[in-house]
This record gives sequence, C-alpha cells and structure tokens, in this order.
Amino acid sequence: MSPEDKKRIAAEAAIDYVKPDTVIGVGTGSTVNHFIDLLAARMGEQVRAAVSSSEASSERLRGHGIKVVDLNEVGRLDLYVDGADEANSRLHLIKGGGGALTREKIVATASREFVCIADDSKLVETLGKFPLPVEVIPMARELVAYALRDLGGTPRLRDGTITDNGNHILDVHDLEITDAPLLETQINQITGVVCNGLFAHRPADVLILGTDDGVVRHSVASQSS
Ligand code: A5P
Repeated sequence: MSPEDKKRIAAEAAIDYVKPDTVIGVGTGSTVNHFIDLLAARMGEQVRAAVSSSEASSERLRGHGIKVVDLNEVGRLDLYVDGADEANSRLHLIKGGGGALTREKIVATASREFVCIADDSKLVETLGKFPLPVEVIPMARELVAYALRDLGGTPRLRDGTITDNGNHILDVHDLEITDAPLLETQINQITGVVCNGLFAHRPADVLILGTDDGVVRHSVASQSS
C-alpha cells in the first residue's frame, strides 16, 4: 500500500470518532487533508463547525462548505484530529513539519480527545530523527538558537517560512529525545520561544496508523488493538 493510501485509511478510521452536530478540532497536513475531504463527503451538513489549526486547513474546510469558527467562541472541544511527524509508543509526538505547531498545540490542549492519524512510518522508538520545529519571535532567533545548542541540538532556520502567527521556525537536528516532557518544558523556558513541536504534556489519546494490513490503533492504556 502506498504511503498516501495508508494516510487515507487512517483518516477514514478517524471519522468514526466524529459525533453529529458537534464542533470538531481540525489539524494540518496531508493526512488531515484526507480527513477533511472524507468528513465533508461522509458527514456533510451533520458537522456543525470546525476549529482549524491553520489558514490552509480553514481554506480547505470552507471549500467543502464546512463553517470555521474561532476557538474563543467555543472554548472547549470534544475531539481534535491531526497528523504527526513522529510518534512513540507513549503517544508523545513531534509536530510542526507543516509549520502550524502553535495553533495545533492550542487546539489539542482545548480538546478532550486527541486522535492522531498517520501512516506507519511515523511510529519510532526514540523521537528526534525528525528535526524538532520550534516557533520563535523573529528578533530572538539567534538568542534561542544559542540556548538550543546548549541543549544538544543543531538549530537551522527554516528558510522563507513565516508562520500564520508572523514568526520564524528553527528546526532542531541531532536530538535524541529520551525524556520528551522534560525537553518540552526546557525549550518552553527559553525566552523568545513561542512554542515547540513536542506534544508530550498533551500527547495523543489515540494513534491510528495506516499499515499494509489495514489500520492499527494505539492508545497508552491498550498499546495496540
Ligand atoms: C503540521 O504543522 C504538522 O504538525 C503535521 O501534522 C505533520 O507535519 C504531519 O503532516 P503530514 O500529515 O503531511 O505527514
């Protein structure tokens, strides 16, 4: 099965978590694009509205006639569906390959259940092979880069990228992340950091992976089913 087909079947499985007439949190990326298309096709007008984590996803949702509302209008959400760049067995994630990490973390934190969808190449033993995205206030870029080197990483500016919030992204290479909650906290403490792409304090609740044998669901309680 191609990686694209694996993403599609994972997205399809996430539709089961959507309850009619609710506001859904929607992430960003190629896997979520499948989810948005399937959501519109399968549930259409049964979707009351969505809170989106990026301009790109908002545009796609509106293109399907799904209303996009501000998080402040709804406060809390029952469900957030998003992809990941890496996931471990504790459902800690690296996200932000698409640059939307800050809004993604906000919507994930506002949601009671976070269903992560991905192809099986995203499941890793140790996080960090995928460079960790860190969103920074532009004037603090070098200051933050020094601190990230002190933490053992090699930060590289993502060229030409300005986030939806008007900030820059440093992609941090050479990290072997054995304690994701600790590193997430340490990076958040650096002045000038807006957000980092580790989702360990708010991990996924369910990870749905598309594999050659169909979908495999992981949760921290059950590990896999
Ligand atoms: C967007 O900023 C990211 O967090 C995405 O969720 C992540 O990059 C996964 O993207 P794909 O679904 O395109 O692999």
